[in-house]
Amino acid sequence: MSIVNERVNVGVVGATGVVGETFLNLLEERGFPFGELRLFASEASQGQTRTVSGREYPIQVLSEDGFDGLHLVFFSSGDDISRVWAPKAVAAGAFAVDNSAAFRMDPEVALIVPEINADLLPARNKPAIIANPNCSTIQLVVALQPLAKKYGLQAVRVATYQSVSGAGRNGIEELFNSTREALEGEEPSASAIFPAPIAFNCVPQIGGFNEQGFCTEEVKIMNETRKILRLEVPVSAFTVRVPTLNGHAEVAWVTLAKTVHHTEEIENCLASGEGLEVMRSAPKATNAVGQSPAAYPTQAMVSGRDPVYVGRIHRDLHDPATWLMWIVSDNLKKGAALNGIQIAERIFDIKPQ
Ligand SMILES: NC(=O)c1ccc[n+]([C@@H]2O[C@H](COP(=O)([O-])OP(=O)(O)OC[C@H]3O[C@@H](n4cnc5c(N)ncnc54)[C@H](OP(=O)(O)O)[C@@H]3O)[C@@H](O)[C@H]2O)c1
Repeated sequence: MSIVNERVNVGVVGATGVVGETFLNLLEERGFPFGELRLFASEASQGQTRTVSGREYPIQVLSEDGFDGLHLVFFSSGDDISRVWAPKAVAAGAFAVDNSAAFRMDPEVALIVPEINADLLPARNKPAIIANPNCSTIQLVVALQPLAKKYGLQAVRVATYQSVSGAGRNGIEELFNSTREALEGEEPSASAIFPAPIAFNCVPQIGGFNEQGFCTEEVKIMNETRKILRLEVPVSAFTVRVPTLNGHAEVAWVTLAKTVHHTEEIENCLASGEGLEVMRSAPKATNAVGQSPAAYPTQAMVSGRDPVYVGRIHRDLHDPATWLMWIVSDNLKKGAALNGIQIAERIFDIKPQ
């Protein structure tokens, strides 16, 4: 299929969700040269419209001929929809950039973070499913990549602090509603979204548990990190849902294959990484709150921004090969829609504005 006047005909499945909404904002913000734009959601959203670059588009339901004429379809409606509809998009001649977990560990499907493994993307005339990794995985691998290249990795341990927006629009509503209830003195009601009340609480479970005691989110991070970095490095993950609105934070303990003596060397290495912003340690240690502006990223600070931020970089006291760091990024942007758009920009050789 030829692309008329270099305009890419785009579909967005899940256009009314929080990731879909971020896709629409980014298409506009990055000046993505879309021609046709078709927006899909469930039956419940029929009759609604969304405005992109000043033009109103109707929300449609998925249909057998719905992808005809499209070159690219972003999927953000969950595993079941992707499993059925992404192959249909490819059969209709489009690239399917999939935010769900449906195809990520399929050995035939490329799992892409463009800064790291864009070399695995198929040619522009070979439509395929391209998997977008898990949000926590993306920010972790963006930080690990420069360290892996320069020093080699021996092991990675990571603990996550994940915002409610990672559970979609319902997750955000749940935080607002349950916080309001708690402030009004009501007993916390059972949550349909999280395994335990989320207001003023942290929940050490994202997804179901396997026999070894790991939850699905942890398994995704451990497997996807190795696939993207193309390394057999041991990765151990522990994931926690926290009552923040947007942006995921992680503490990573990164064990390097080479000894590095100075924090500055690690900071410089990370600062050379694509898509990374390093917030360097304060020159003087302080133990009091409010003595100096925070020299580290936080979830509220990074929400709405593109890069992956790293701060609080320091060496472990007992294992000189291990470095601790705090990695924070917007899960809806780099953790989902931005990474998807960057994949599309690479496939169609588009420079963002
Ligand atoms: N949130 C994140 O941080 C994040 C990060 C990475 C990946 N992801 C993945 O991205 C996907 C979407 O997540 P989200 O957070 O955006 O969820 P969300 O806010 O709950 O949005 C879900 C979207 O799917 C649509 N949908 C539901 N049933 C559908 C159907 N039968 N046909 C077409 N569309 C249907 C919904 O439409 P209605 O509004 O009509 O119900 C809505 O647009 C999931 O696979 C998620 O795992 C999310």
